[in-house]
Amino acid sequence: MTQALAKGSIVAVIGAGAMGCGIAQVAAAAGHQVRLFDTRQDAAAKAVAEIGKTYGKLVEKGRMGATEADLARERLHAVGSLGDVAGASLVVEAIVENLDVKRKLFMELEEIVGDDCILATNTSSISVTAIAAPLRHPQRLVGMHFFNPVPLMALVEVISGLATDKGVADVVFATAESWGKHPAHAKSTPGFIVNRVARPYYAEALRLLSERAADPATLDAVMRDCGGFRMGPFELMDLIGHDVNFAVTQSVFNAYFGDPRFTPSIIQQELLNAGFLGRKAGRGFFHYGENAQKAEP
Ligand code: NAI
Repeated sequence: MTQALAKGSIVAVIGAGAMGCGIAQVAAAAGHQVRLFDTRQDAAAKAVAEIGKTYGKLVEKGRMGATEADLARERLHAVGSLGDVAGASLVVEAIVENLDVKRKLFMELEEIVGDDCILATNTSSISVTAIAAPLRHPQRLVGMHFFNPVPLMALVEVISGLATDKGVADVVFATAESWGKHPAHAKSTPGFIVNRVARPYYAEALRLLSERAADPATLDAVMRDCGGFRMGPFELMDLIGHDVNFAVTQSVFNAYFGDPRFTPSIIQQELLNAGFLGRKAGRGFFHYGENAQKAEP
């Protein structure tokens, strides 16, 4: 049976946004030394402070031991340059959803990390095969696709591109299991499993909205309270972020040569144009923060 990465080995997380923070939190709690890097000044340091507070809340709720939380905090470090991830056994990339930017990062990383370091991308929808193509060792690149919010969502898709070594995918699978996750192997098809199946969920809801069938709060309530979904489509898009969600839809639409089933929504594009990116911006389909009242855009 393939072994997971050893506890204490270094896991580097690149990108301290919504996903990178969650991945760093889970990896440090699972016993790894974590190095968190972001190009935005202070983003990684702020994220480390926030994660420390989150561990504190978990202790208060009885979901983590106080010593366990202290040890996890000690293992978690923000780093100021990409060169500081040199000793990593695994790098998980969670930066902007853009093929060229991701390729550039991995090519830089190949100059920094050792030859046996596994390179993983958290991409939602970009071909893992394409991200790996320009690398010197494309066989060590694999998709490690977490879901939002990372600490709560059990599924991790382990995506093999055409060049990915089976042993590399197996180590990432075993490592995800050792972090308490439920991994599933998938091949690098557009949207992989979940984002392929989820596109029609968002698209149909957005079509209903454009036809003025009902408002977002009503549609969410129907799917949540009667359909058995944990979240309705509009609150879920707000949580994911409209920039990320729209980019994924565009990517799947383009990858299927413009198949109309995956046509991006003008309503969502308008939210993007306005900067109403969802929870992280304080406004999306709904309003958030102080005096939040649910309202249509
Ligand atoms: P985000 O926008 O919250 O965070 C991205 C972070 O990456 C930012 O802090 C940004 O400063 C940093 N960054 C950008 N370029 C960088 C570079 N070259 N080097 C280092 N840091 C850089 O984005 P989010 O939501 O965390 O998504 C990250 C990735 O995870 C994307 O590929 C996205 O498609 C994927 N993903 C997102 C999910 C979601 O629900 N938001 C779910 C699953 C995957």
